[in-house]
Amino acid sequence: MIVGSIKEDITSEKRVSLTPETAKNIINLGLKVCIEKNYAIHLGINDDEYKKNGVEIKDSNKEVINFSNAIIKVNCPSENEINIMKESTILIGMMSISKNKDLINKIINKKIKIFSLELLPRITRAQSMDVLSSQSNLAGYRAVIDCVAEFEKAVPMMMTAAGTVPAAKFLVIGAGVAGLQAIATAKRLGAIVSATDVRSASKEQVESLGGKFLTVEQTEDMETAGGYAKEASDDYKKKQADIMKEALKKNDIVICTALIPGKPAPRILTEDLVKLMKPGSIVYDLAAEQGGNSAFSEPGKINTVNGIKIIGVKSLMNRLPLTASSLYAKNLFSFIRNLYSKDKKDFNINLEDEIIKKSLIQKV
Ligand code: NAI
Repeated sequence: MIVGSIKEDITSEKRVSLTPETAKNIINLGLKVCIEKNYAIHLGINDDEYKKNGVEIKDSNKEVINFSNAIIKVNCPSENEINIMKESTILIGMMSISKNKDLINKIINKKIKIFSLELLPRITRAQSMDVLSSQSNLAGYRAVIDCVAEFEKAVPMMMTAAGTVPAAKFLVIGAGVAGLQAIATAKRLGAIVSATDVRSASKEQVESLGGKFLTVEQTEDMETAGGYAKEASDDYKKKQADIMKEALKKNDIVICTALIPGKPAPRILTEDLVKLMKPGSIVYDLAAEQGGNSAFSEPGKINTVNGIKIIGVKSLMNRLPLTASSLYAKNLFSFIRNLYSKDKKDFNINLEDEIIKKSLIQKV
């Protein structure tokens, strides 16, 4: 059995799905691995580093596709790539189903078995494969770094002979994986951090990181059985807006991370709310590509309103592609280890396994 990986379109995606380290791990399972030449050269990783771990280098993506039983990728393949894929290939990646319905239908019609790691169940056994967590965690970290770079003041409190510099105040909206890492990173830099989330379970997590939790009083349970957030009621939104009104006047940097699976991002900061912030403040909207938590946010743009910068995030993982690739490749390796049967020396698409069943796209 051969696992192949082809290059992404590096104008929009700098991550790779195979690192020399994970290639070696896959080979140690008893599989062969091949890649297209200059596969990760843009990240400073030469073909030789793969070669010395036992990877075969092919001249083109077509050769890799022809040679392999399974293709691993970061993103959904392009139309051209799909056209050259063979029937019965196994394809594994992050397929962004809602964005790529037509391409995915084409893949399914070619009888290619297609797995999207974004669909993995959030169960303990799947934690090592959980791409949403590995990438969101980095997003939370990078959000703080980007904000600090844009912020025209110092973050920690400093008592100097020339006077005292007050600590910057961060507000994190949505305390899931990204939000919690943003809190931890901002705290490490010496910021005063508060956070809010519809899931009351997150209060304890925020507090354990040294953040102050802003509670919106609620009468219903806002968490689904799967641990995700439900869409907030009008009553909740009103109470949340009242709390935001006070919080936004005081905070220097707001990091928005709120998402509801399968729905557009909840709009939490209206134009009027954003305008309550002080000039020089920053709103960093990690949800911009899903519709945005904040008014004035547009993916890939920094909009300035009344001296407040609203940063709409786009392709954030391209700002730390080496770490993002390293974790993504490890997630993929864990998935392959679960899918491959050493006894049968073949991939075993066992639909009794919740991990395999939920990540296999059967129709869109
Ligand atoms: P996410 O990326 O889907 O959403 C981010 C956060 O936004 C969530 O905490 C959500 O509650 C919050 N949110 C949604 N609407 C909001 C609103 N109107 N106002 C304020 N906050 C709002 O979430 P993520 O990070 O994927 O985590 C979702 C759940 O999955 C959590 O319960 C987490 O603990 C759980 N999880 C479980 C894992 C496992 O392996 N068992 C791994 C990672 C996460």
